[in-house]
Amino acid sequence: MKRKNKSKIAFKNLLVTGGCGFIGSNFIRYLINNKDFSGRIINVDCLTYAGNPENLADIAADYSARYIFQKVNICDAEKLDKIFLKYDVDAVCHFAAESHVDRSIKAPGDFIQTNIVGTFNLLEAAKARGDKFKLFHHVSTDEVYGSLGAKGFFREDTPYRPNSPYSASKASSDHLVRAYYKTFSLPATISNCSNNYGPYQFPEKLIPLIILNALEGKSLPVYGDGKNVRDWLYVEDHCKAIWRIMTTGKHGETYNVGGNAEMENIIIVQMICDILDEIKPARGGKLRRNLITFVNDRPGHDRRYAIDFAKLNKELGWSPRESFKSGLQKTVEWYLHQKKWLKNIKTGAYQAWIKEQYSS
Ligand code: NAD
Ligand code: DAU
Repeated sequence: MKRKNKSKIAFKNLLVTGGCGFIGSNFIRYLINNKDFSGRIINVDCLTYAGNPENLADIAADYSARYIFQKVNICDAEKLDKIFLKYDVDAVCHFAAESHVDRSIKAPGDFIQTNIVGTFNLLEAAKARGDKFKLFHHVSTDEVYGSLGAKGFFREDTPYRPNSPYSASKASSDHLVRAYYKTFSLPATISNCSNNYGPYQFPEKLIPLIILNALEGKSLPVYGDGKNVRDWLYVEDHCKAIWRIMTTGKHGETYNVGGNAEMENIIIVQMICDILDEIKPARGGKLRRNLITFVNDRPGHDRRYAIDFAKLNKELGWSPRESFKSGLQKTVEWYLHQKKWLKNIKTGAYQAWIKEQYSS
């Protein structure tokens, strides 16, 4: 379907939170090169273990007039207010979050602070801008809807039933954004998407973790019976969806974003093994599938996610372009070519660099 309504909104000073993470860095890279956007991007990120400025080193060098980085924690309301004033912020795209479900089970505290309190601080700062403020876009997850059985899809009107501390904290932030739209007329949109994959994903999440372990001949941990299902969305498709919603979406609305690619975890792990065996065979021709190890299940592990993105398709004309097979192939190849990036992550060198840069 063709897009009917072209953007009439021009953001001059867009504050992106969490821009040094996986999706945020892909989004900034996509937007700064987009002919429909000529404004500035102010990237606010406190650089947790998941934030890596190296993800945007080339952008920082090539676009110094339009790309500004601020190492700030969104839990620090005072600093946030100053940034909104200093850069005359007129829009926000909010990615910053603690994002890993397993970590939220072991230590939920930071999830509550960043995902709930941090979102609240941003909403307050945006509200204080009054009529100057044009849009707060909140990036959220399909996990807020809970778990599906063998059939059915999450729609925008599916009731919230979050099952992990991570998804509960994201659900809470969604509600806050909605409440600020309803109560204070803050212009806001929300997107709830499925599992992203692609370049720059931190290797704690399934796909990069399996690629790296397989390359190093380590065991490939599959939780439970490996038959949990996720829908997989190529990160560039997601970035395009976010920008489409930000520029043509209706304020106060939620849009689901999906990749049309439901997969069982075990199938994904096998596919990665086969791609690597083909393009980078292991020593002695050993098949990587032999490294697959079934391990204890994640507590509260959601069985199946599946997204109905008909609203986004029908109303705003978006659909995913990448097939899972080609997206996975590209992703594996990307990781194979990132020796320096991976070394810096594995040795913790990127964290040491951050400490040195921001020690004062
Ligand atoms: P990520 O973990 O790769 O990156 C998160 C970024 O936020 C990092 O750069 C980190 O330094 C920053 N950050 C964390 N706490 C912060 C704080 N208190 N102040 C400032 N910055 C902080 O996450 P991601 O995978 O890129 O996810 C981005 C957003 O998309 C999150 O809101 C997540 O809930 C949502 N989401 C992710 C997926 C996915 O598959 N990755 C799917 C659906 C929704
Ligand atoms: O659905 C959207 C969500 O997708 C996002 O909101 C989260 O931020 C993002 O982390 C992701 O959550 P998941 O828990 O689905 O992603 P993860 O990569 O951790 O796990 C994907 C599936 O693979 C899940 O069923 C658990 C399983 N898994 C994961 C790891 C890390 C394994 O079997 N083995 C593993 O080692």
